[in-house]
Amino acid sequence: MVVIILFLLFISEFSTTTGQLGNSSITLGSSLSPTGPSNWSSHSGQFAFGFYQKGKGYAVGIWFNRISRRTVIWTANRDAAPLSRDVQLIFTSDGKLILQQNQGESISIVDRDLPPASSASMLDDGNFVLKNSSSSVIWQSFDTPTDTILPGQPLLAGQKLVSSVSETNHSAGKFQLIMQSDGNLVQYPIDVAKPETAYWNTSTFTAGATVSLNLDVNGKLYLRNGTGFNIMNLYEGSPFSTGIYRLTIDADGILRLYSSSSDQNGDWTVEWSPTTNRCVPRGLCGLNGYCLLTNQNPQCVCLPGFYLTKPGQNNSDCERNVSMSKNGDIEYNIIALEDITWEDDPYSVLSMTRQACIENCLSDGNCEAALYKNQQCRKQTLPLRFGSQEGGVTTLFKVGNFSSVGKESRKELRIIVILSTSISFFLAISGVVIYRYAFKRVSNQGNDRWAEDVALRPFTYHELEKATNGFRDEVGKGAFGTVFKGAISNGKTVAIKRLEKMMAEGEWEFQNEMKSIGRTHHKNLVRLLGYCHDGSNRLLVYEYMTNGSLADFLFKSERKPIWEERIEIALSVARGILYLHEECETQIIHCDIKPENILMDEKGCAKIADFGLAKLLMPNQTRTYTGIRGTRGYVAPEWHRNLPITVKADVYSFGIMLMEIICCRRSLDMDVSENEVVLVDYVYDCFEARELDKLVRDEEVDGMKLQRMVKVGLWCIQDEPSVRPLMKKVVLMMEGTVDIPAPPRASFASSMSREAHN
Ligand SMILES: *[C@@H]1O[C@H](CO)[C@@H](O)[C@H](O)[C@H]1NC(C)=O
Ligand SMILES: *[C@@H]1O[C@H](CO)[C@@H](O)[C@H](O)[C@H]1NC(C)=O
Ligand SMILES: *[C@@H]1O[C@H](CO)[C@@H](O)[C@H](O)[C@H]1NC(C)=O
Ligand SMILES: *[C@@H]1O[C@H](CO)[C@@H](O)[C@H](O)[C@H]1NC(C)=O
Ligand SMILES: *[C@@H]1O[C@H](CO)[C@@H](O)[C@H](O)[C@H]1NC(C)=O
Ligand SMILES: *[C@@H]1O[C@H](CO)[C@@H](O)[C@H](O)[C@H]1NC(C)=O
Ligand SMILES: *[C@@H]1O[C@H](CO)[C@@H](O)[C@H](O)[C@H]1NC(C)=O
Ligand SMILES: *[C@@H]1O[C@H](CO)[C@@H](O)[C@H](O)[C@H]1NC(C)=O
Ligand SMILES: *[C@@H]1O[C@H](CO)[C@@H](O)[C@H](O)[C@H]1NC(C)=O
Repeated sequence: MVVIILFLLFISEFSTTTGQLGNSSITLGSSLSPTGPSNWSSHSGQFAFGFYQKGKGYAVGIWFNRISRRTVIWTANRDAAPLSRDVQLIFTSDGKLILQQNQGESISIVDRDLPPASSASMLDDGNFVLKNSSSSVIWQSFDTPTDTILPGQPLLAGQKLVSSVSETNHSAGKFQLIMQSDGNLVQYPIDVAKPETAYWNTSTFTAGATVSLNLDVNGKLYLRNGTGFNIMNLYEGSPFSTGIYRLTIDADGILRLYSSSSDQNGDWTVEWSPTTNRCVPRGLCGLNGYCLLTNQNPQCVCLPGFYLTKPGQNNSDCERNVSMSKNGDIEYNIIALEDITWEDDPYSVLSMTRQACIENCLSDGNCEAALYKNQQCRKQTLPLRFGSQEGGVTTLFKVGNFSSVGKESRKELRIIVILSTSISFFLAISGVVIYRYAFKRVSNQGNDRWAEDVALRPFTYHELEKATNGFRDEVGKGAFGTVFKGAISNGKTVAIKRLEKMMAEGEWEFQNEMKSIGRTHHKNLVRLLGYCHDGSNRLLVYEYMTNGSLADFLFKSERKPIWEERIEIALSVARGILYLHEECETQIIHCDIKPENILMDEKGCAKIADFGLAKLLMPNQTRTYTGIRGTRGYVAPEWHRNLPITVKADVYSFGIMLMEIICCRRSLDMDVSENEVVLVDYVYDCFEARELDKLVRDEEVDGMKLQRMVKVGLWCIQDEPSVRPLMKKVVLMMEGTVDIPAPPRASFASSMSREAHN
């Protein structure tokens, strides 16, 4: 009974409210100014439209007029600079709503071309409308929401709310709420609306293209689909509410449904919000900074050793003051931040223990940080973003021990001090000497600046001439140049490659390539130690590999490597190629994988040489490069078809080489019976006939393993690049962790035969 009475009361209350939803019509020729009448209020006085203070000037907008703390719900031209005191808002006699500043050009309040309006109204629901002469609404503020919607104002598919900079500055801020046309309602940081960056959503992405977000006068917040069905209630509201409501995406990125009633003294109460954790909004803190909650308040903290780029502005980006890679001699350490996570965008994911992850990152020149979670080492490069607390994730973060660098810079400082105090002496004796000295220093710095972030040592041509005793001891000749043995000043034996056929215009490329090669660190890649770009000379200094090439090992040596050794070599090479393809900062396609380019160190560990040089010597990466064609037999068919070269070209070459490693013979061999000349034909024949043991002659091998290796090889040499597996898959297949389907009978054989007879 009581309920019914209350309900009737409510109905009558409600109808009187609606009755009052009248209008105070604004007629043509009316105007406002910050000094004169500054606003038009709605009939009930609930809302007002007009000038409000923004910074030291003014903006035009709509606000709750009866709430003591003024609450702006809409702003015209929100990103424009504040207006000065002498501005006028005019509803012109020809039906336009414009701002006129000091006789200057007029600015329109509405965001598109409209037919002339004949009246305007600030309605009692908070909507400001323009009407034409037949009283139809031709424009309304409800259609262009900023950071707030009100009861009766749906957020339609394709529309969004964008937070304000702050409670007093209503320019566009850092967060958005989008009613997507897939039916999902999603919150994103402002500049990156990608699924991975979303920080809240309703998971209604299958609800159709015309879903809208709605708020009713009782505070009920819900999603409605195109046919009018309520598909999700976000907040039930209260049917007996006498309050007023608004839904706002606040400056801190959190969506809040507020209510206020007359007995609240004009303050707002939060009725609903998707989260109370104020660190949830992604992008609250700048790059390399993470969000910590202290007493429910978010606090941005920079990574250790990083500082705010705008001191005092705690959500600005964080940067290091010292460039980490300036000096190759820096020692690196790992700092672990427990329970801190970031946007997870790894360039490499490895399953290993935490300690192994730490060591892996330390020995990988690309690794600047790693997220360790679920026994996975997820390696990252800087900058990190969207940092926040999350249990079970450790951020392992690489830091340099700068004490040595610090000492050096102090030394430099001392030199400068000495110079400057005695400079008058010097000047008196010889100004020219000082000038030359200074000039030389400066120009040197300019020359080598690009190499600063590579831990590579620069050499002069003279130094290398000395190191090789005048380029006497030639140890190899390849497509890219001649290799000499030498010893650098610390006594270390090195291999020095003198590049020939260097493009004249290749300076920039050379520098870039050195940067990317210099950053590679992998135990199956030959390590580049230094370079020389002296005049027209281009030389590279590598670690010296004492045991020659894989070609010598497989085809020439007295003692052929045994099966297990060969498999280990094949796997090492595969891992090295995988690193070049997927784990480096810039993807490197080798383009010339063959046994001559695999070198063996003193422990018999196989390392790939000459990577990264192909690009350097091939300006447009076409097949026309003759040095590559010289290595017939390893070249993927797409080279001959003028198709773009991808990582799959290396997969092909690796496949051919794998066959050679398995069988310990060249892919083309004229000294055997005719059906065995082309190795891949022969391998396929044996595979089909289930006679794989023929391939290894009288050697004792694990049959399953042999079959696996042969299948991997046959997959790699498929004619069609897209059918060949990626190196990642190749490694997994070789390791035996994934099944290998039977390779299709491809046209590879015929193409190889063509090669053989060319
Ligand atoms: C609202 O304005 C229209 C003209 O635009 C007028 O016809 C109508 O009577 C007004 N309503 C109230 C309640 O003032
Ligand atoms: C709105 O206009 C009225 C009358 O001109 C004025 O008294 C009031 O202060 C104005 N409100 C604001 C917030 O400027
Ligand atoms: C409002 O914020 C914007 C964007 O950060 C800024 O450019 C503008 O100067 C601010 N305006 C005022 C009045 O503070
Ligand atoms: C007013 O606008 C409505 C809707 O856009 C339109 O149908 C009507 O013809 C317009 N009236 C005049 C006089 O232009
Ligand atoms: C949407 O939210 C659900 C559950 O809250 C979450 O699992 C999903 O990843 C989110 N999707 C996006 C695109 O953010
Ligand atoms: C809206 O939802 C109802 C009930 O789930 C469904 O029958 C209808 O097809 C939906 N409309 C659209 C346009 O998806
Ligand atoms: C920034 O600092 C202000 C005051 O110093 C503090 O109120 C606010 O919570 C801080 N915000 C973040 C995200 O650190
Ligand atoms: C880096 O800069 C901050 C202030 O910007 C300073 O406090 C700090 O000592 C500097 N650190 C180093 C290593 O120079
Ligand atoms: C940093 O290096 C200095 C000397 O170069 C050494 O004494 C110090 O222990 C190192 N610090 C760390 C944390 O490794």
